[in-house]
Amino acid sequence: MSCILISGGFGYIGSHTATILSEKNHKYVIVDNFSNCKRDIVDKIRKITKNKVCYYECDIRDTQSLINIINENKVTSVIHFAALKSVSESLMNPFEYYEVNVNGTISLLRAMKLTGVKKFLFSSSAAVYGEPDFCPIDENHSLKPLNPYAQTKIIIESILKDIYEAEKNWSVVCLRYFNPIGAHKSGLIGDDPLSGKSANLMPEIIKVVKGIKDYLNVFGNDYPTPDGTGIRDYIHIMDLAEAHFKALDFIDKRNGISFFNIGTGKGVSVLELKKAFENVSGLNVSIKISNRRQGDCAVCYANPKKANVMLKWKSKYDLKQMCESSWKFANRN
Ligand code: NAD
Ligand code: WQD
Repeated sequence: MSCILISGGFGYIGSHTATILSEKNHKYVIVDNFSNCKRDIVDKIRKITKNKVCYYECDIRDTQSLINIINENKVTSVIHFAALKSVSESLMNPFEYYEVNVNGTISLLRAMKLTGVKKFLFSSSAAVYGEPDFCPIDENHSLKPLNPYAQTKIIIESILKDIYEAEKNWSVVCLRYFNPIGAHKSGLIGDDPLSGKSANLMPEIIKVVKGIKDYLNVFGNDYPTPDGTGIRDYIHIMDLAEAHFKALDFIDKRNGISFFNIGTGKGVSVLELKKAFENVSGLNVSIKISNRRQGDCAVCYANPKKANVMLKWKSKYDLKQMCESSWKFANRN
């Protein structure tokens, strides 16, 4: 039976993906160093999947341990989530970002090479496109990193291209995620970073309704958009998780390297997301208009057609369902 190694499998996207893989009876083993997740995540995944969770507390930069884990579990493919993901942190501490994201990935790829595992699914990001020249963004859009975080993703994509050029029996997929929000329907798992680490829009909205913050800072209302606030492609975390299941099937069937946008193709403004959340929760989200955040663009949404056709994947959930699940998770935690 095949076994999937999930690096960073206790994080936001990894934990939701693990529940889908379990549902589809895929065997997996998680490798995580717990640097950005809480310990109770293990028990939560066990409760959802009604299965023991096989995992190792291990840093992806520890190549020898990865080799042992791959051999012990007869790993056949890898989904690589483990990374540092804060754009602002990456500007303040680029060294750490290159060290964990780039060196960590090289360590994992080396462990795969030494054990003969050649199927690799990589978490890339819409951040690789930088300020879009056009929307919806397709995969041929130029890559223009605006920060070290985005640069690490581009470097890793390039490394993967070179590996495939040298060894044509690799099968690699890079999924470029847009803006995941929402939570598992159980309300048990969701976007749950260690405190103070996340400043993305949905966690910020939740902080306001839970009274942790007095108001939501809306970063600019003078963008060239209908209501003046920034537009993004928010995608339900379970749709994103499902894309991994489809991509694994794709990887199993052919060698090569492919890049896919994973988004809904719909743009939603900050004020529209705030309104959708208010409608679902019945609560008011106070706002304060502040200056634009450095490095933000006005509009960014995906053209997901390539993934729709080639991965046979399409987003299913709407904005209301994204807000409902985020709110359920926030209430339970
Ligand atoms: P997350 O921080 O919630 O999860 C990452 C997991 O990796 C955490 O559990 C953390 O403990 C673990 N980890 C970090 N460094 C590690 C190391 N050196 N060794 C072992 N484990 C380590 O992040 P996420 O939101 O689940 O993102 C997963 C991936 O998707 C990342 O590569 C991220 O860059 C990418 N991504 C995320 C988003 C987003 O908005 N969440 C968007 C685009 C791309
Ligand atoms: C969304 C919109 C903000 C917070 C980031 C990364 C990207 C990817 C996803 C990893 C923007 C506005 C936000 C707030 C606000 N992650 N906003 N007040 O910046 O689109 O993408 O996460 O790969 O790489 O850059 O997401 O949620 O931070 O912002 O007004 O308190 O909400 O200006 O328009 P972003 P976000």
